[in-house]
Amino acid sequence: MNDAYLTLAPRIKGLAAQAGQRVHVRFEAAKDPKVLTAEQIDAALPKAFTTVPAQVDVPGVGLFSLTTAGPSDSTNRADVIRGKVAVVTGGAQGFGEEITRGLIANGAFVAVADMNLTGAQKLVAELNAKAGKPVSMAVSVNVSQEESVEAMVNAVVVEVGGIDLFVANAGVLKAMPVVDQDVKSFEFVTAVNYTGYMLCAKHAARVMREQAKTNPAGWTDIIQINSKSGLEGSNKNGSYAGSKFGGIGLTQSFALELVSYRIKVNSICPGNFFDGPLWSDPEKGLFVQYLNSGKVPGAKTIGDVKVFYEAKVPMNRGCTGPDVLRALLYIVEQQYETGQAIPVTGGQVMLN
Ligand SMILES: NC(=O)c1ccc[n+]([C@@H]2O[C@H](COP(=O)([O-])OP(=O)(O)OC[C@H]3O[C@@H](n4cnc5c(N)ncnc54)[C@H](O)[C@@H]3O)[C@@H](O)[C@H]2O)c1
Repeated sequence: MNDAYLTLAPRIKGLAAQAGQRVHVRFEAAKDPKVLTAEQIDAALPKAFTTVPAQVDVPGVGLFSLTTAGPSDSTNRADVIRGKVAVVTGGAQGFGEEITRGLIANGAFVAVADMNLTGAQKLVAELNAKAGKPVSMAVSVNVSQEESVEAMVNAVVVEVGGIDLFVANAGVLKAMPVVDQDVKSFEFVTAVNYTGYMLCAKHAARVMREQAKTNPAGWTDIIQINSKSGLEGSNKNGSYAGSKFGGIGLTQSFALELVSYRIKVNSICPGNFFDGPLWSDPEKGLFVQYLNSGKVPGAKTIGDVKVFYEAKVPMNRGCTGPDVLRALLYIVEQQYETGQAIPVTGGQVMLN
């Protein structure tokens, strides 16, 4: 069988959206699948749905079952994410976990796509049990490898039919002075934060483009979780800041290109997430590393290091998951903006 379902499922999702419903589309392959030509794929669906059907049977491809999940393209704040399908890379912990929890609390279905599959599965089991129905799925991915990204996106399309919101959140950091930086660690950070974002945007946009063919009035979103280090340099952390500055170049360029498929592309630039594992892990976290290396003069405890970093923020605290979620919901709700990098830094970084 060719992968006709990868084209048809997003188009069915688009047709349903045009008929007023956000749907999840589950696919079951035909017993005797056939290879369809591009023309046969184009002809397989009606031009419009008068009402949203429960199933669409495409002979030679398989059965698409539709579950209605929310109103289509509502700009009402309470409905902005309800019933939408989101993918969150690096969703198993940290900001990704917070975003996943927040999107589900607002009525979305979330594919938690992470290299740490066990962590993603654990989170998904908890969230589905709490909701009493499937509100999330776990998918393994290494965002720096194209085959892995493509397989992850396809797995989401088979399970729920398409993607309304792709959150490119997975990111890594190897801070060190440039005079000591080895090429391997520099390339590792670049591969995940920069190339990984491009690969995710590429494969998400291919699916979103199909949805747009049958729902020419709807918008979808790609949102990169960037950093304040994408807006101003970061001392002894050049590989990270460089990859994040580059990410904003990709966001602006993809925004120009993908607007013709009604895909908005934006970045969110959070400040430091002091309560997340990157900073607060008791063994490997940055607070304990900075305490042990004497980076903060006079600091005797982790608490002293934290106070030092909090004092750099005009609002005197670190960034949290809900802070990032608020920016994310704003971007989805806002239908007249694309290609932006929005700081969420408590005033630590200001645009000019
Ligand atoms: N923590 C902060 O202070 C902070 C501040 C600003 C921006 N950010 C950005 O927010 C994002 C999340 O950061 P975090 O601190 O929550 O990170 P984290 O280290 O707590 O979690 C990152 C998650 O991404 C996964 N991951 C790592 N590499 C991957 C890959 N190649 N493919 C798939 N998954 C991968 C990990 O398994 C993990 O679950 C990153 O892009 C980071 O640059 C973080």
